[in-house]
Amino acid sequence: MFSLSKKLSPTITDMIRFDHSHVLVTFHQYTADKNPKVRKALADTICNALEIHATLEEEIFYPAMEMLDAQNDVLQKSVPEHQEMRELIAELRATSASSSRHNEIVMQLMRDVIHHVADEETVLLPKAELTYNKDRLSELGVQMTKRRLELVAPKAGKIAMDTAIGFSGSTMAWIAGSAAVMLALKRLAKPRAEIR
Ligand SMILES: [Fe+2]
Ligand SMILES: [Fe+2]
Repeated sequence: MFSLSKKLSPTITDMIRFDHSHVLVTFHQYTADKNPKVRKALADTICNALEIHATLEEEIFYPAMEMLDAQNDVLQKSVPEHQEMRELIAELRATSASSSRHNEIVMQLMRDVIHHVADEETVLLPKAELTYNKDRLSELGVQMTKRRLELVAPKAGKIAMDTAIGFSGSTMAWIAGSAAVMLALKRLAKPRAEIR
């Protein structure tokens, strides 16, 4: 049973890329001219997605990378950067979406996340894929999916509501976002040999 689900599971590295794409699509929906309710929903979507993603990396992906090279510069600064991100998230949640400070925090968070994601996607993910075989990466993907379900379950209703409100401001943006998600899902569903 476990080996079957392992074979069907996307690799952990593709899952991490998918999470990054999802949060960047959401950042791109956040514009200063949207009303406070929509900006608050988009900010909450971003905060929840980042918190869950950071926990999954810290519990499953980073330990697997530490076994390869615990001294790696990018790996060593990853958890401290997650902590800085959590502090910004706490400040963002405590700030009214009607204030200009709300926009400033979201933009600072986006800058930090783009840098962090660039390091992961150009250093850690390629290193994982050059070192671990596909079975191991898919096995880690299964672990990530199981843990994700536990983390999402208590917030599932709120996440769905925030997504509906956040993406309601622009039909075209929602369609574009959905198309990006569908494309990513299609890629994840394909065997890796077909993707390359
Ligand atoms: Fe990270
Ligand atoms: Fe990440």
